Amino acid sequence: MSTTPGVTDCTGGLAVVGAVCIGALLLTLLCWCWRAFKTFILSEVWRVDLKKYGGWAVVTGATSGIGKAYAKELAKRGLDIVLISRSNEKLKAVAEEIEAQYGRRTMTIQADFTGGGSIYPAIKEALSGMDLGILVNNVGMTYNVKLQRFHEVQNSEQIVNCNMLSVTQMTRIVLPDMVKRGSGLIINIGSATAAKPCSLISLYCSTKAFVKYFSQCLETEYKSQGITVQCVAPMVVSTNMTWNCPVNCLVKSTSDFARQALNTVGYSSYTNGCISHGLQSVVFGLAPGWIKSLAYLIKRRRQVKEDLHEE
Ligand SMILES: NC(=O)c1ccc[n+]([C@@H]2O[C@H](COP(=O)([O-])OP(=O)(O)OC[C@H]3O[C@@H](n4cnc5c(N)ncnc54)[C@H](OP(=O)(O)O)[C@@H]3O)[C@@H](O)[C@H]2O)c1
Repeated sequence: MSTTPGVTDCTGGLAVVGAVCIGALLLTLLCWCWRAFKTFILSEVWRVDLKKYGGWAVVTGATSGIGKAYAKELAKRGLDIVLISRSNEKLKAVAEEIEAQYGRRTMTIQADFTGGGSIYPAIKEALSGMDLGILVNNVGMTYNVKLQRFHEVQNSEQIVNCNMLSVTQMTRIVLPDMVKRGSGLIINIGSATAAKPCSLISLYCSTKAFVKYFSQCLETEYKSQGITVQCVAPMVVSTNMTWNCPVNCLVKSTSDFARQALNTVGYSSYTNGCISHGLQSVVFGLAPGWIKSLAYLIKRRRQVKEDLHEE
């Protein structure tokens, strides 16, 4: 059977396009696997010495959850720790725990990050003259009620102050000395919810999108000056914010998360912090928007039922 020359050319062309596409896809997959291997596996073996950044680390929101776990892990790796949170009592307890467990020095600063710009001069004063190598901008909050439409949110100004203003102002406090020394590490805790728009937590996930974008901008601005800026975007970690849900292969414990996430310093400027959250984030990224909306609507329905039951 004979084929016309035009049809043969066309089939040959399509085969080349197909081969190029498959090749590009395989190359992308290979790059992704190498990045994941480097960030989550290699980093377990070759850890960056965090003491090279300076003697002290500042952690905001350091009395529970992810912040407390970062503070303890940093102390374990040889840094002295400045803890900042609202409750003096809790600050004292965590400071004593760190001193007893790791023999590091601690300092505590009581501050409420919902308070707006007026709180920062006192924090700056308290931190002045210290050898600050690391800042962990961890403090963050979400709605008073679990899930809400934006017009129903009561604490929107507090969320903006706590999740965004704290990141910019704390960074402004530590950066000048880091620039002078030509060394420093700033870790900003974002959230995997910032990867794509999410309904019923729109303000929360938008503040976290700001954290991601701001971190990436700073990283390009200060990398050449010896300052590393990393954004860590967790999925679910078992803390007060997530109602201390049980730890399993998807939900991380705070200590495990902080240890693995700190290993990724120097390997990745944007990370989900651990391999489990990295894989979940890929799946989350592929899911069409309506699936996520459906999940939220189901949760919302459950919540309304619970509230009615409580009444
Ligand atoms: N847990 C997760 O699954 C998850 C997922 C993605 C992202 N994140 C992010 O991770 C960060 C930490 O979350 P978490 O789950 O560890 O929260 P958490 O368990 O609720 O802990 C929050 C910490 O911040 C302090 N804090 C809260 N509001 C404050 C304020 N207005 N001023 C000063 N300190 C304040 C709290 O201490 P005091 O009460 O003593 O002040 C506590 O130490 C947040 O930025 C959050 O958005 C968490």
